[in-house]
Amino acid sequence: MVGAKGLLAAETLRLAAAHPNVVECHAFSRTPLADLRVVHPHLPQQQTVRALTELPDALAEALLRGPAAVILATPHGVAKKLWLQLQLDLALLEVDCDALRVIDLSEDHRLGPLEDSGIHSEQIWHYGLPELHPLPASSRRVAVAGCFATAMQLAVLPLERAGLLQAGQPLILHGVTASSGSGAQAQPGTHHPYRRNDFHPYALDGHRHEKELCHARNFLVAPSLVFLPYSAPLGRGIYLTAHLPLHSGVTPEQLQEAFDRQYCASPFVELCAAQAPHLRAVVGSNRAAIGWHQRTGFAQVFVALDNTIKGGAGQGLQCLNLMFGLPETTGLPLAGLGY
Ligand SMILES: NC(=O)c1ccc[n+]([C@@H]2O[C@H](COP(=O)([O-])OP(=O)(O)OC[C@H]3O[C@@H](n4cnc5c(N)ncnc54)[C@H](OP(=O)(O)O)[C@@H]3O)[C@@H](O)[C@H]2O)c1
Repeated sequence: MVGAKGLLAAETLRLAAAHPNVVECHAFSRTPLADLRVVHPHLPQQQTVRALTELPDALAEALLRGPAAVILATPHGVAKKLWLQLQLDLALLEVDCDALRVIDLSEDHRLGPLEDSGIHSEQIWHYGLPELHPLPASSRRVAVAGCFATAMQLAVLPLERAGLLQAGQPLILHGVTASSGSGAQAQPGTHHPYRRNDFHPYALDGHRHEKELCHARNFLVAPSLVFLPYSAPLGRGIYLTAHLPLHSGVTPEQLQEAFDRQYCASPFVELCAAQAPHLRAVVGSNRAAIGWHQRTGFAQVFVALDNTIKGGAGQGLQCLNLMFGLPETTGLPLAGLGY
C-alpha cells in the first residue's frame, strides 16, 4: 500500500484487515512511522509504516512467497512516475513484473488506450469499474475509476447501451461530494469550520472526471455533457443526479429493463426503481444505490455511493478480487452504516 498516510490508503488497510485472503499487508510512505495508528487511529492493530525506498525489495521478497499486489494511493501525476521507477527497480532485482498485480487509485492510467488496442499485455491498464467494464482475471494493471466517474457511468451507460438516449442533446449531471474526496490534508475547501455550514458548486468550467465518462470505451462519439460538482458538508459520500434526454416514447418499463439488464449480476448495485436512494443507506459499504424517475422527456437517474469505498478503496479491492479469481464480494462490506 503506497501513500500510507492518505485517506484511501487508510480505507484500503481497514478493509484489507477484514479480508479473508489477505495474508500480509504492508504500508509504505515517504516518511516512515513506528505505528500507522498515529495518523489512522481507527486501524485495528499496530503497523509499522515502511519507507517507500524499501518497496522494491519488499515486493521482490513477497513475490518469492506467492502472488502479490501493490496499490498506489497517491496524488495524480505521482502514481505514473512511481510505477515507472518501480519497474526499473524490479528489473534490477530481476523480478518478473508480469507476476505482480498493480492497482492505481489515481487518475494517471485511467484515460489510456483501449484494452483491445493491441499493446503488449504487461503495459495494458484495464479500467476498474467491473459492473460496466468486465475485468478479465488475467488483468495485471488496473486503473480504478474515479469516484464521480463511477457514479456518472453507473447512471448513464445502462440507458446509452440500451439505445434509449436522445443523441444531440446534452447530458446534464449534478454531483454532490463530501470533504473526504479531497484527501487527508485540510485545505480551505475542506477544513471543517469552513465546510460544515457551506454548500457551493466548483469546477464550473469542467471537472476532470468528465473525460472518463466520455472516453472512447463508452461512446464512439463523445456526448455533449454538462457536469456540475458541489461541495457539501458531508464526511463521506457522493450523490449524483443525471438528467438524461430520452427518445420520445420511452416507457418506464424500458428504463427498468435497461437497468435490470445491466446490473442483474452486480452484487454491489442496488436498484431502487422509481425512488431516490439515500446516502445513509450506502455510506460505509461498497454498494452503489441507483434510482430513477421519468419526467418531461428526461430520465432523472440518482446514484448514491461512498466515495472512499465504492468510489475508491473498495472498488480497488473488488478489482483485486477479480484479478485473483476470487468472488468480487470477498471481504467487502455490503451493509451501509445506516446513520
Ligand atoms: N479521497 C477519495 O474519495 C478518492 C476517491 C477516488 C480516488 N481518489 C484518488 O486516490 C488517490 C489518493 O487519494 P487520497 O484521498 O487518499 O489522497 P491523500 O489523502 O491526499 O493521500 C495521498 C497520499 O499520497 C502520498 N503522497 C503525496 N504526495 C506524494 C509524492 N509526491 N510522492 C509520493 N507519495 C506522495 C502521501 O502519503 P505519504 O505521506 O504516506 O507518503 C499522501 O498521504 C488520489 O489520486 C485521489 O485523487 C481519491
